[in-house]
Amino acid sequence: MKPPERLRPLIEEGLIDSVVRQLMSGKEATVYVVRCGDDVRCAKVYKEANQRSFRQAVDYTENRKVKNSRQARAMAKGTRFGKQAQEAAWQSAEVDALHRLAAAGVRVPRPYDFHEGVLLMELVTDAEGAAAPRLNDVVFGAGEARAHHATLLREVVRMLHAGVVHGDLSEFNILLAADGPVIIDLPQAVDAAGNNHAQRMLLRDVDNLRAFFGRFDPTLLATRFGPEIWALYTRGVLQPGAPLTGRFESVQGPADVQDVLRVVADARDDEAARLLRMGGGRP
Ligand SMILES: Nc1ncnc2c1ncn2[C@@H]1O[C@H](COP(=O)(O)OP(=O)(O)OP(=O)(O)O)[C@@H](O)[C@H]1O
Ligand SMILES: [Mg+2]
Repeated sequence: MKPPERLRPLIEEGLIDSVVRQLMSGKEATVYVVRCGDDVRCAKVYKEANQRSFRQAVDYTENRKVKNSRQARAMAKGTRFGKQAQEAAWQSAEVDALHRLAAAGVRVPRPYDFHEGVLLMELVTDAEGAAAPRLNDVVFGAGEARAHHATLLREVVRMLHAGVVHGDLSEFNILLAADGPVIIDLPQAVDAAGNNHAQRMLLRDVDNLRAFFGRFDPTLLATRFGPEIWALYTRGVLQPGAPLTGRFESVQGPADVQDVLRVVADARDDEAARLLRMGGGRP
């Protein structure tokens, strides 16, 4: 196909040779299949900020590191330079997370380059070499569902051990490759240690996995892996590969009023984000 404008700089730089086709146009990016020498890869072109949605909300970007203090001040003030800096920080967050997670042994698309707002990465494929389907597009038997659920919980643990919470993990952001599930779509990934909302996001990510695979094996619906994983993390004893039980006993004791208020505020934020997502036309 005729290369779209946003991919021209990569062709001029010799990073890609030709554009095969558009794979998908999501709310936040358009994804293309491209050819690089003998390889077929995937190019994710980020949309402009005003076309994007809920994931740039304060709770995701809280405590995100920027390169210098001038940028940080400008971002806080919301100047034009600040908005540009924020935009760049958002876009590069995904390539940063991909490198960090690949190094931690998490199965994510291999990143090749990030240039002019375009992320060039491995095209995740099925057994026939075609672009892999999203989990949402696949039907599983009960045994398969349990196996994939367990695999993905191990991935969540590996991510958290590396200090990262996905923050938007669901059947729409996991592909089923020939060699198993691959987690994608990470521009909103949050720093587990520095973000006050990390716990809520981790629990929601794990709940989404449970709800999805629970459709194929309802026994999964009774599990409580999220609180178990978070408790191990906060005690500093989370180990990738260590067995989990799926059971969790809440500790009874005097209520922490500040904590209750934060949960209430978080639930309100979640609902606002949900309404935004619905408005954004997520399937
Ligand atoms: N590395 C990849 N290999 C194969 N397909 C991919 C890859 N990355 C993205 N896709 C496809 O493109 C779609 C959109 O990608 P992604 O979720 O990263 O962007 P998005 O703009 O956040 O989309 P959405 O709003 O639908 O979540 C994915 O659902 C998937 O089908
Ligand atoms: Mg997505």
